[in-house]
Amino acid sequence: MEIKHKPSKPTGKLGVLTPGMGAVATTFIAGVEAIRQDISKPIGSLTQMGTIRLGKRTENRVPAIKDFVPLAELDDIVFGSWDIFEVNAYQSAINAGVLEKELLDKVKPFLEKITPMKAVFDQKYVKRLNGTWVKEGKNWYELAEQLKDDILTFKEKNGCDRLVMIWCASTEIFIEPSAVHQSLKSFEKGLKENNPEIAPSMVYAYAALSLGIPFANGAPNLTIDIPALAELAKQNDVPVAGKDFKTGQTLMKTIISPGLKARLIGLNGWFSTNILGNRDGEVLDDPESFKTKEKSKLSVLEHILQPKLYPELYDNFYHKVRINYYPPRGDNKEGWDNIDIFGWLGYPMQIKIDFLCRDSILAAPIILDLVLFLDLSKRIGFKGIQEWLSFYFKSPMFGPGLYPEHDLFIQLMKLKNTLRYIQGEELVTHLGQEYYD
Ligand SMILES: NC(=O)c1ccc[n+]([C@@H]2O[C@H](COP(=O)([O-])OP(=O)(O)OC[C@H]3O[C@@H](n4cnc5c(N)ncnc54)[C@H](O)[C@@H]3O)[C@@H](O)[C@H]2O)c1
Repeated sequence: MEIKHKPSKPTGKLGVLTPGMGAVATTFIAGVEAIRQDISKPIGSLTQMGTIRLGKRTENRVPAIKDFVPLAELDDIVFGSWDIFEVNAYQSAINAGVLEKELLDKVKPFLEKITPMKAVFDQKYVKRLNGTWVKEGKNWYELAEQLKDDILTFKEKNGCDRLVMIWCASTEIFIEPSAVHQSLKSFEKGLKENNPEIAPSMVYAYAALSLGIPFANGAPNLTIDIPALAELAKQNDVPVAGKDFKTGQTLMKTIISPGLKARLIGLNGWFSTNILGNRDGEVLDDPESFKTKEKSKLSVLEHILQPKLYPELYDNFYHKVRINYYPPRGDNKEGWDNIDIFGWLGYPMQIKIDFLCRDSILAAPIILDLVLFLDLSKRIGFKGIQEWLSFYFKSPMFGPGLYPEHDLFIQLMKLKNTLRYIQGEELVTHLGQEYYD
């Protein structure tokens, strides 16, 4: 990817727009405000707490990432959202039950001012929800025009210099790529004809890309992963990233499985099950939304373990993923993994994981990093799929003829090398021969 504009410190406000203002979005928004007010720390965020080694190990140059690349400051971020329920960010955060009331009350005046704009929604795509705060329009195209108006009004009202959009709304039903998705021309025709293969998330993405706004997809929906929107992103010089934030059980999978493969330990089966009781869990209780999520979760092991290259170790391992909606747990989900592995001479062993995790707590720093890195990408002229941001996704987007990189450690190396590349620093290969010559 070519660096068209020299990276420089941005000035002015950066608007973050989230379709969806539920658990993840409010945990992110409330969190950023709590960090700005010095009430909390940005744990889990690479842009805020990460460092990067530069040059040789003997040089001892290890700046913080935020001092190395020119990112927007947290104080310059403003927030806007759409949702199908007309509740402000404070009330939505209380309903989500992720952050305790004591913390939320400290940022209450700020959160109460953030009220959602009317959503583009159709229950056909999220069966378990029935929205009341929804736009009306003749067809998808008209609705996209309404979203563009929202965006431009938001930009002006808040005095924003730049914008980024991140899909934080519910998981939509599974949609296969089809003819209408193949070119921008067919897609725009489909918007005007209200084609059912176009989902609301695609309408938001279309509106954002049309206005040159970077877009990331935090859910496993097809959304921007179609040639029509890739074409639009290229045409309008817009960076995009997706899909499905890598948190919870899948994060663990991409930490453990590269380790097993590195030591050539075989795998017979990996059974993953979860209980969760938030709205996301309720939406995923619908088989059609679950199918979208399942696809995203299942693909990970296949790509990391490369059974075609290692048939004796990874051919035919049994992989099962279950999500069970269990209301008493709220956002504090519990995920169990039973991993059947085998070692030297084929002797079997087992690993058991019981992860008492908080999904939105893991997702919020990802959103912050994506916002800042996509804004950086846009400013320096990167466009299309930002594969270097795969680090943050369960189903990383990838270019034609490639396969996705799922291994968290390769993803991190790629991300850091991209930052070095952006700033004209030597890439780190970890060869290290020179220390011994
Ligand atoms: N929490 C995680 O760790 C995690 C990880 C990966 C992906 N995700 C995905 O992120 C998304 C958000 O998760 P969450 O826990 O915040 O869920 P949530 O149910 O709390 O929030 C989603 C919000 O989106 C709204 N919504 C639905 N359709 C909409 C539309 N068309 N336009 C505008 N708003 C709409 C809902 O009313 C709801 O308020 C889900 O798709 C989830 O699968 C979450």
